[in-house]
Amino acid sequence: MFEVSQVKVYVSDGKEVVKGVSLSFSKPGIYVIMGPNGAGKSSLVNAIMGHQGYVVEGRIVLNGEDITKLPTHEKARKGITLAVQMPIEIEGVRVAEILTRIIKRFRGITKSEEASRLARELLSIVGLPEDFLYRYFMVGMSGGERKRLELVRVIAQKPKVALLDEPDSGVDVESMPLIARAIKKLRDEGAIVILISHQPRLFEYLEPDEVYVMYDGRIVLKGGLEVIKLIEEKGYTWIAQKSGGGKQP
Ligand SMILES: Nc1ncnc2c1ncn2[C@@H]1O[C@H](COP(=O)(O)OP(=O)(O)OP(=O)(O)O)[C@@H](O)[C@H]1O
Ligand SMILES: [Mg+2]
Repeated sequence: MFEVSQVKVYVSDGKEVVKGVSLSFSKPGIYVIMGPNGAGKSSLVNAIMGHQGYVVEGRIVLNGEDITKLPTHEKARKGITLAVQMPIEIEGVRVAEILTRIIKRFRGITKSEEASRLARELLSIVGLPEDFLYRYFMVGMSGGERKRLELVRVIAQKPKVALLDEPDSGVDVESMPLIARAIKKLRDEGAIVILISHQPRLFEYLEPDEVYVMYDGRIVLKGGLEVIKLIEEKGYTWIAQKSGGGKQP
């Protein structure tokens, strides 16, 4: 069970960018958040993760425990992780080292060969070749490769809650099913996946359990796959007009 309750987020200049969002997830699944640029989607997930620069009000509760004020590394240890939009390069540390360490730490695997085998398997899920294991983490990788490797890093952690901030942006058409496969793997391993996306194409390969639309810092619409189709046809402005900027459904 993962719950955010009446969450407000303020950024560095004191501006309120998330204006009271409440969401509750009782079982593993794929929960999509859509919304126009600047709606507050990234701010919401960064604030949930406890990243610097975001002041949070409200409550974030994981399996009955209030984790609102925990530092990021504590949240990670409790099973929350965020796939960021632009993963950073780590010079001098190879992908294999990072993945095997994460796998050992979060999956209770002790044998190095077993951890390496799993690292290779996870790379293959997103269609990255094995020789990526020997490259420095994210260094010199293309935008799409980074997104895919970031998903591998998230899966390696076997999270309870996976926050994915546009894992499909900058990914080519043919790699879209691979991204979908990685997201399904997360869900199948028991994660509540909170997926921010702008791309209806991803949902040709992925059935969301619920879809939320965020607009001007608020959740203004909730539904299923039909919401994604509606947005594709009509955009966002009509929702704002209908909801009057409105109250959360
Ligand atoms: N550190 C900051 N200082 C000032 N404004 C900020 C800061 N971080 C975010 N904002 C503003 O907060 C609003 C929400 O930004 P956010 O990145 O959460 O949007 P988003 O919904 O993720 O948009 P996109 O779809 O473009 O990624 C924007 O208007 C943005 O400019
Ligand atoms: Mg964003």
